[in-house]
This record gives sequence, C-alpha cells and structure tokens, in this order.
Amino acid sequence: MRRILITGALGQIGSELTLEMRKIYGSGNVVASNRRAKEGHEELIASGPFEIVDINDLQTLSAAVDKHKINTIVNLAAILSAVGERDPQQCWNINMNGLYNVLETAREKNCMVFTPSSIAAFGPSTPKDSTPQDTIQRPTTMYGVTKVAGELLCDYYFKKFGVDTRGVRFPGLISYKTLPGGGTTDYAVHIYYEALKSKKYTSFIRKGTYMDMMYIRDALSAIIELIEADPGRLKHRNAFNVTAMSFDPETLAASIRKFIPEFELSYDVDPIRQEIADSWPNSLDDSAARQEWDWNPKYDLDSMTKDMLEKLRVKLGSMITIYG
Ligand code: NAD
Ligand code: SER
Repeated sequence: MRRILITGALGQIGSELTLEMRKIYGSGNVVASNRRAKEGHEELIASGPFEIVDINDLQTLSAAVDKHKINTIVNLAAILSAVGERDPQQCWNINMNGLYNVLETAREKNCMVFTPSSIAAFGPSTPKDSTPQDTIQRPTTMYGVTKVAGELLCDYYFKKFGVDTRGVRFPGLISYKTLPGGGTTDYAVHIYYEALKSKKYTSFIRKGTYMDMMYIRDALSAIIELIEADPGRLKHRNAFNVTAMSFDPETLAASIRKFIPEFELSYDVDPIRQEIADSWPNSLDDSAARQEWDWNPKYDLDSMTKDMLEKLRVKLGSMITIYG
C-alpha cells in the first residue's frame, strides 16, 4: 500500500495533486506538507493528514516520514524561475539542499521519490524546436541550474543507492485553483483571470515567444502514471520531456476569443522574464515518455481554455458571458 508524503503541497501543483491522490489512495494515506500553512487551503488541510515540514530541516522531514510510515515522497517544494532570479541563493538552498535532504531520507527509509524537473533545464544552446529527450543542457538561470543538477542527483541516487527516483520535465502548467508561485509561464494563467475580470490582458511575455504548456489535469495524470509505471520499462527515470501544447501569447489570446470575442491583448514586456523565456525551448519532443510509460495528454489549447474559463467564471463570480 502506498503511503505518500507531498512536500510543498500548498503550491500550484500540490494543492490539486493532494486531493487527486487522496481520491485514489485514500485520504489517510496521503500526507500533505508545506513549510508553512497558507490562507485559502483550509479545505485541503482538513481533508487528511497535514504536517508543517520545511525540506531544509532534515530532522522534521525524517520525523514526518517515520510518523506516517511513508514509502513514497512527492517533492514539490521549490522556488520557481522568476523568483529564483531575484534570490538565487535561496533558490539553490531549497531546490538543491532541500532535494538532497529528501533523497537522503528516502535512502535511509527506503522510499520512492518523485521530483519534477522543468523546461528550464534547457538553455540557449539547446535545439529549440522538438527539443530531444537527450540533448545539450546549459541553462542560464539559477532555477535551470538546480533543475539539471537535480535530475543528475536523482539519477545518482538510483544508480548508487537503488532509490526508486522518477521525474518529468514539466512545461508551464495552467490551472485555476491555486495561482502559480512566480514563474515565467505564469502569464498563461493570469491571462484567464483578467479575461474574466475585464476582457483585457497586458502580457509581460512578447508576441511570438513560444513555450510548451500543459493543463493541470494532464500534469496530475503524468505524476500518478509515472509513479505507477513499470520500472522495467523506464530508461529515462528522472527527466522525461512531457508536453501537451506549445503557444505564444497571440495564439492563446485567439483561443480565448473563441469564447470571449471582445478579449483584447496588449504588451508591456518584462525584460527579465522575457530573457528567461527566450532561453527555453519552443517545443519539446516527448516521445520517450510516450514509449516508456504511455504518456498521452488529453487537453489541447481550446479544450483547456473552455474548461479554465468555465471553472474560473464560477470561482471569480464573473458575469462575463462565455460563448461556445
Ligand atoms: P509553487 O511555487 O506553486 O509551490 C511550491 C510550494 O513549496 C509552496 O507552497 C511553498 O510554500 C513551498 N515551499 C517552498 N520552500 C519550501 C521548503 N523549504 N519546504 C517546504 N515547502 C516549501 O510550485 P509548483 O508550481 O507547485 O511547482 C512544484 C514543482 O514542480 C517544483 O519543483 C517546480 O519547479 C516544478 N514545476 C512546476 C511548473 C509549473 O508551471 N507550475 C513547471 C515545471 C516544473
Ligand atoms: N512554470 C515554470 C516557471 O516558469 C517552469 O518551470 O518557472
């Protein structure tokens, strides 16, 4: 039986993954944790076990694993790209020293570990289109540096100690429950909120900047399917390219206009996040994930837009009419 600890569970991914995993594995078998409790997550905290765990505090992490007889750690605690460029030291400390604590705990207590990497693990010298699974990785952000190093560290713990480590390189994730935590792809979430508030959005990412993206429903499936995948089929354990779509702000705006025809997009480009976006791929080749564990996303741009607008309209109490 799986006994799962999710770190960083009150973030964009964890706040939805916790509830999804509780449906599948049972509420009592999925322990949510975060370095602090946050307002707006009362339902999640009440829906099963919750612990305050800072992954930089090895003793507390290890005690939570013992207390709940954990055999699977999903490590979502991290600092994302834009925040990481504002405070690279903190980004390294949490993304690397925190991950090291998670892996050491897993080694000592015989746990499986799932840790997401990112499209940020690539850099300007990586082939930009259909970026291969195995290719040049010379990222130019601290976040990207921690993601490549994290992939390697997870590979090492598997090879050296036999820890069952797994992970995917997520693209930008789009969701409506919890706002993203300070990344470069966040514009593609904020745009839906503003479409439903004012039918307008000013993008901090320039027209023509293509990045891979994925709806949260597919991201949750990727995590659960890879955790449950037959280990005998996995050659790329810790860094599977996964994607569902690639778009630029104009393409996204055109999708929103199918449902809100008056929607207007303008630009006020942020040079720091634009430079980060320019260093990342336009589109990934995710054939290794498809071959090794049957990865197959369900949502394309328009089906994601429809679901996002319908769900957010209710959440925001928006009176804007959605067509289509
Ligand atoms: P997020 O910023 O929304 O959430 C991270 C959570 O971790 C927050 O609740 C934060 O309070 C918590 N946290 C930070 N430091 C901590 C610490 N030391 N100990 C315990 N908790 C701590 O992030 P997310 O979007 O949910 O991302 C989760 C993982 O997925 C990260 O590794 C991220 O790099 C990766 N990822 C996310 C995306 C995306 O678009 N959201 C894309 C690619 C990869
Ligand atoms: N969404 C993430 C970011 O922009 C990608 O890892 O930081």
